[in-house]
Parts: sequence; C-alpha cells; structure tokens
Amino acid sequence: MNITLDPRYTADIHDLCLRYEHLLEQARQGMPSHAGSTGWLDPYAHADDVFLLRIEERARVIRDEAEVVVIIGVGGSNNAARTVIEATESGDRPRILYGGTSTSPHAMQSVLDEIDGKRVHLIVIAKNFETLEPGASFRVLRRHLTQTCGAGAAHRITAIGSAGGRLEQLALEHRWSFFPFPDDVGGRYSMFSAVALLPMAVAGLDIRSYLRSAAETKSSLLAIEAQDNPPLRYAALRRHLYLDGYRGEVLSFFDPRMQYFLKWWIQLFAESEGKGGNGLLPSGCFFSEELHSMGQFLQDGTPSLFETFLETRETCRGPALSGDGIDDGFAYLDESSFVDLNHSARDAAIWAHHQHIPTNIISVGAPSEETFGRLFMFFALACVFSCEMAQVNPFDQPGVEAYKTMMFKTLKGT
Ligand code: PA5
Repeated sequence: MNITLDPRYTADIHDLCLRYEHLLEQARQGMPSHAGSTGWLDPYAHADDVFLLRIEERARVIRDEAEVVVIIGVGGSNNAARTVIEATESGDRPRILYGGTSTSPHAMQSVLDEIDGKRVHLIVIAKNFETLEPGASFRVLRRHLTQTCGAGAAHRITAIGSAGGRLEQLALEHRWSFFPFPDDVGGRYSMFSAVALLPMAVAGLDIRSYLRSAAETKSSLLAIEAQDNPPLRYAALRRHLYLDGYRGEVLSFFDPRMQYFLKWWIQLFAESEGKGGNGLLPSGCFFSEELHSMGQFLQDGTPSLFETFLETRETCRGPALSGDGIDDGFAYLDESSFVDLNHSARDAAIWAHHQHIPTNIISVGAPSEETFGRLFMFFALACVFSCEMAQVNPFDQPGVEAYKTMMFKTLKGT
C-alpha cells in the first residue's frame, strides 16, 4: 500500500502529526479511552482458530446446500462483506443476494422473485435486532422459507446478533445457527468479526489471509513514528484542509469493482465523523464516466472539495484496440489495450485535478482478501484519528436515531 499525500501540505501535516502524536500512542495501547468499542483493533480478538473453524464449517454447509444465499443486514451489518464479495472472484460460489438494505417494495419483491424455486439459505445480521429494514426483510424471507421448506426452514437460517440479545434467543428457540456480533464492535467497525467473516467464507473467500493482512497492517502502521505515520498523516491532512475551509473529500476510483468499498468508506466517515456540526462530507467518483460530470466540478467548481485517488492494481490488460481497417479516427489506439487507456485516463485526471484542488493518491494491490484487510485497517485507524482531531466520538451515531424515532412513532402508533 502506497500513500502519497499532496506534497503542498507536507509542512502542515508534519506539525499536526507532532501535535497529535498522543493519538498514535493511544492506538498502540489499544485506545483505552474507547474501551468497549475497539474490538476491531485486534483482528483476531473475535476470530481465534476455534471460532474460524466453526465459521468455515457453517460456510461449507451453506455452500453445499444453497443455490442462493440472502444476506440480510443494513449499513455496518453488510457493507464490509459485500465490499469484498462483490469485488473479488472465487471458484464456485452460490448466488449471493442482499436483503434488508432498504424499505423499497421493489427491492424486496425482486429478492423474492429471484429466490423463487431455488434452494435458499438466509444469513440475518443485526446487532440488537431492532433495526427495521433487516427485521422486515427477515420476516418476509423467513415466511417464504417456512412455506417452501416447512420444518427444514430452521436449518437454512443463520443469525448473527448480540450474545444474549433477542436474535440469539430466537435462534435458540427455533434452532437456527447462531454466531455472536461482538459487544465491543459497532456495525461499521465489524469487518473482522463473524459479521463479515461468515458471508465471505460462504462466498469461498480466504478469511485467514484477510485477517492476517489486517493484523500485519495494524502492526506495521502503528510501529511507524508520528511524522511519517500514514493513517496519522492522512487524518492530519484531512483536519488541516477542513480548518482551511474544505468541506468534502471525494474518493475516486478507476475500477468499478470498488463500488461497495466506496459505500463502506462513506459509511465509516459519515457516521463516525459527521456530528456536532463537524466533518468532511465523504463522497466518491467512478472514472472515467464521472470525469464527464463530477470532473467538471472538481476541476472548475467551488474549491470546497479535495480528492483522494484510490488506485487498484490491474491484473488484466483487457482487449487490444487494434483497428479493423475502418477509418474511425481512433488509429492512435492501434498499439494500445484497455489497460493503457485506463492508466492514461487516471494520470491525466490526477494531473488536471491537482491544478485546482488538493489531491492524494493511495495505491493498493488488486482487489483481494489481503487488499481489503489492509484497506479496512488503514481507513478505520485514520478515521478514528480524524474524529479525535475534530473532538468527536468515532463510535456513536446520535444523528441516526431521529428518523428511527419518527418512523417507529408512525408505524407503532405511539
Ligand atoms: O455502524 C453502525 O453502527 C450502523 O451503521 C449499524 O451497523 C446499522 O445501523 C445496522 O445496525 P444493526 O446491526 O443493529 O441492525
């Protein structure tokens, strides 16, 4: 992983890193001021060998039996798994669908239509099992399973929820499989727990190399001194730019497979940092299509945004662009292939945007279990540092409650 922050801010970042050196020290000590929310900081804290064997065994059963698996969960309860699953390929995997991410009747109906007549397993993930979207979706899909498999339905349900919580009680009562959603990780920090590990294993992904890479990333990042420390420097640059009047960060990609990573990243920063009248608006672009839309704003609009390019390594050159004898005006492409196009669009966009706004470049390997282990750990550390610099709690989300309270009032009539 290679991180190049905009060199025009090197001196400012250096000073801020020294000022916030204590944050790095706190991270090395396990963030004691946030005890109760930092179970993710050690990727093996909720994934020892015995636990991983249990996860792998349950995943094997699901893979053997299911044509379709519906992962039911919203926000932090599905974003990490969906990121890795949708960006990677693995041999033979069941079709994976996602439920409970919205209240859209169309989305719910299309999941039902897709599973009709198929052998289905459900994985329901909800920390406290109070969130309406997964609760409603689980009701509908459970009813479908019971109608189609009768008593066999129970065997096809796996629940992940708080130990001792309602979902665990239901799982015991109805003989569903159950894995704990650790108490000391919030949804958006649950990427190294059963919440992500079970769906990833069902998709045939290597959860052991994923965890190893996250653990190695943590150890190597925290060993670096403050002024050179990548997550601290990135957080310091974000803070500096915020104080300088910038109001948003755009994460830009040239690889469409990263679309759910963008969702994960947006959730991480929006829900962790956007509080108390603070925070940089996290958003993203997929180029080159959005060079024809957002590219205009980034290049020439209100200078309130800065940009971080997240570059993944290409493993495929794509088709050659040699011509077919028709004079179409693109003869200059004769010797190129798609990877050359993608690289030249990237280099040109970085150059052009750099003229107008602050730009950073983060380069990683091809999308894989190891790459996401690294990215999740890097950004989670950076996000916590960013929040601390802005003096907001990275682990709560008071703003999410307002709509929930109003919606429950309407639906429950109280
Ligand atoms: O990060 C968070 O805490 C939230 O995004 C939750 O993950 C999300 O609201 C889902 O919560 P639950 O798992 O309780 O349904």
